[in-house]
Amino acid sequence: KRVVVFISGGGSNMLALAKAASEPDFPAEIVGVISDKADAGGLAKAAALGIPTFSFARKDYDSKDAHEAAILSALESLSPDIICLAGYMRLLSAAFINRYEGRIINIHPSLLPLFPGLHTHQRAIDAGMVEAGCTVHFVTEGMDEGPVILQAKVPVLPGDTAETLAARVLVQEHRTYPVALRLIAEGKASMTDGRLIGAEGAT
Ligand code: GRF
Repeated sequence: KRVVVFISGGGSNMLALAKAASEPDFPAEIVGVISDKADAGGLAKAAALGIPTFSFARKDYDSKDAHEAAILSALESLSPDIICLAGYMRLLSAAFINRYEGRIINIHPSLLPLFPGLHTHQRAIDAGMVEAGCTVHFVTEGMDEGPVILQAKVPVLPGDTAETLAARVLVQEHRTYPVALRLIAEGKASMTDGRLIGAEGAT
């Protein structure tokens, strides 16, 4: 399976996916990395692994549609089977999601449906949560609300800050995302009519 990874920043999750995909028995290969930030740190990491990279700065386009059209045309040229959003901080249009319905997945740093959106770790701490974690889910038109594929949990410890909790969750993101991608690539988890079919559960 051909996988394209979308990033906006450091790309540590992209790197975890690329490392897993480089194993001979992994049922997918990363054929491209696309970013909406020309200076995303992950672009250099992908290039160092020989993965083709493409960046599209929003300011170079006179509309959101034109920006997304440029991204979509590069994406089409890569003939992806699966799209992985990994620290990608831009919402996809309904047209984009419908074009790749059921083949776009995302990793979110909370135990969805808890804490969709931003600043998830501080919100978990402020809410007095005793556990937090990450979720790999299918991307649907609503933000952070598609069917859950896999989740991983970590404890929230006394004295945790958003940074210490984020670091603990990130370790699980790097472990969980490749497992979820393998399930999708092997057809063991899929999405039909917005419902998950197949594997589901905590890791
Ligand atoms: C991670 O916490 C990820 O869950 C969130 O963005 C953060 C940075 O991701 N979406 P990465 O290091 O760029 O993969």
